[in-house]
Amino acid sequence: GVAFAQGQETTPSDDVVPAYGTDEDLRRAAQDLFDVVLPAAPPADEAEAARRELGAKLFFDPRMSSSGLFSCQSCHNVGLGGVDALPTSVGHGWQKGPRNAPTVYNALFNGAQFWDGRAADLAEQAMGPVQAAVEMNNTPDQVVATLNSMEAYREHFIQAFPGEVDPVSFANFATAIAAFEETLVTPGAAFDRWLNGDDAALSAEQKQGLGLFMDAGCASCHNGINVGGHDYYPFGVVERPGAEVLPEGDRGRFQVTETAADDYVFRAAPLRNVALTPPYFHSGAVWSLEEAVDIMATAQLGTELAEADIAAITAFLNGLTGEQPQVAHPVLPPRTDETPLPNP
Ligand code: HEM
Ligand code: HEM
Repeated sequence: GVAFAQGQETTPSDDVVPAYGTDEDLRRAAQDLFDVVLPAAPPADEAEAARRELGAKLFFDPRMSSSGLFSCQSCHNVGLGGVDALPTSVGHGWQKGPRNAPTVYNALFNGAQFWDGRAADLAEQAMGPVQAAVEMNNTPDQVVATLNSMEAYREHFIQAFPGEVDPVSFANFATAIAAFEETLVTPGAAFDRWLNGDDAALSAEQKQGLGLFMDAGCASCHNGINVGGHDYYPFGVVERPGAEVLPEGDRGRFQVTETAADDYVFRAAPLRNVALTPPYFHSGAVWSLEEAVDIMATAQLGTELAEADIAAITAFLNGLTGEQPQVAHPVLPPRTDETPLPNP
């Protein structure tokens, strides 16, 4: 299967698996590249439990947006794999944003947040959408005023941030949301069960797909616990896709670093639960996972994959779907006369 990585004639998939011989060989290679997702640890103390619970309320509360319409859940629907299933998100004033919403599931494992990695972590990330004009269009002061207007929120912040002089702050709003997001993990994927030794968890085709994923070179960018999510590469290392997939106006990391080398550079997308989160790419232009795989092979590797290879890799990617958490919609504190009115 190694010749395959050189961008030569497509090697029939059958040649790949024998390179690993047994499940054990394949597993050893895979264990060097990937890690298993574990269930979220129980909260360390009461304050952390309170932060998680508070964060869930804030995640679901549309009153954190100026219009009173948008919550994190609007674009990161926890019943839909943590996405909005739209090409690019629709936010404040029915505006269409420039990028596809990535999933919040397992986002804590990403090296940095956003398609261009411009936020270091979840707490920094959470301050963005609330203020983004095309998302929630709010201000930190207005968020804090909204929170302070409701006794139940004030109490909850005091429990979540004990001993702090100013518990109801925008920074703590973000910290609480991040604490909730740290529970949004999806353990138990077929791939993880297989990594842990259950040979039967993946089908023969999925194992073939995994072998291809490693040998063809996908795993050189998509690896680690999130099968991606931590390093940056040009979209189009070998061949830049057309403007319908890679719109010219979005130059990716260039907009963050203003370095020529970062032109059209994006974070290698995390691929856990990828089967649940079409459409694909930062443009959200591609609805079929097979097509996304095909595009990746030509754009990033200069390889034309045979149909059977695309099918096998896609079957493997389906094995990255983990158990989706049952997230109960929290009951939110009722407004008071002091609560700022929605401003559509
Ligand atoms: C990105 C969480 C609100 C649309 C992200 C990411 C996280 C996140 C963790 C990064 C994921 C990754 O990089 O893999 C949240 C939270 C929200 C919120 C906690 C509430 C405070 C929204 C809303 C919208 C939205 C309301 C839609 C109107 C997006 C989009 C991106 C994104 C389009 C990608 C943006 C880019 O890469 O430039 N969000 N989100 N989010 N979210 Fe949200
Ligand atoms: C995105 C799979 C090779 C870097 C994606 C996506 C898939 C995928 C399915 C879209 C995920 C989503 O939108 O949620 C694959 C497969 C590969 C491969 C199957 C092998 C055939 C590579 C390589 C690199 C790379 C070798 C790095 C050189 C990226 C980047 C993105 C991405 C940067 C984000 C593109 C964007 O801006 O939308 N990959 N990938 N991939 N992959 Fe790959």
